[in-house]
Amino acid sequence: MKTIHSVASLRAEIRAARLAGKDIGFVPTMGNLHEGHISLISAAKQQQCFTVASIFVNPLQFNDADDLARYPRTLDEDKEKLFSAGCDLLFAPDVEEMYPNGQHRQTTVHVPHVSEGLCGGSRPGHFDGVATVVTKLFNMVQPDLAFFGEKDFQQVAVIRKMVEDLNMHLEIVAVPTARAADGLALSSRNGYLSEEQRIQASALYQALKSITDGLQQRKLISELLKHATESLTDAGFTPDYLEVRHADDLSLIDDSALETGERIVVLGAAWLGKARLIDNISVTLNRHID
Ligand code: PAF
Repeated sequence: MKTIHSVASLRAEIRAARLAGKDIGFVPTMGNLHEGHISLISAAKQQQCFTVASIFVNPLQFNDADDLARYPRTLDEDKEKLFSAGCDLLFAPDVEEMYPNGQHRQTTVHVPHVSEGLCGGSRPGHFDGVATVVTKLFNMVQPDLAFFGEKDFQQVAVIRKMVEDLNMHLEIVAVPTARAADGLALSSRNGYLSEEQRIQASALYQALKSITDGLQQRKLISELLKHATESLTDAGFTPDYLEVRHADDLSLIDDSALETGERIVVLGAAWLGKARLIDNISVTLNRHID
């Protein structure tokens, strides 16, 4: 596996892979790789793609300077993991390579509606930063397929909408969330948890699960959210949001929509100490039969 740092070298490598008749599979990341990222590499390999990963901690998507400063940077360990997973090429640019005209003079991409509320509400500007860097990376890598983890459900929805609206010529593949044995979604931010907090952390998944179970039994959304919020607080979390939305476009939902048998998603974000954890569960509700 080669590691390259410049857009010019990246384009040369991609051209060579294309000449060899390969499809390009792309896995964009911010590094500090875990099993969830490796499952994205495996999904690309399964499609017989020439697999390109990127590692770039994108300052444009951080609305908090401290959060950006302490985001874990573990390039050497990441390279080993990517090599073992069979990744073909790693693109690891620095900030100057990605934003040569300066971050504040960068043309940005805004994806309306689907980027509003949820994480977009709590982290102003976050999805503009994500959409902008992903557009730039897509233009650099020119992938046939790009792989994203479903843990970041809203991010996947934003990217799908952007690809559709801007006629980008690639397929977005969403890969199921990788979880620890107790249900906790794998995330680079889990590294911020103390041993004691790590034991409590699966309460977020349990809270989402209790909501989806309750929805299957046609309990009221407001009641389910109230109980789940209380259980999170009891487990030491400070909840940010817990919501039930339509899974396709993340539009708001009410109890009357629950009779239709359509796909819904329960999304949550909550602070546990210094870690802001997010997770979601999507389900198709059984049709109600009296
Ligand atoms: O999910 C991430 O790690 C980042 O948001 C992404 C997609 C690599 C863009 O910086």
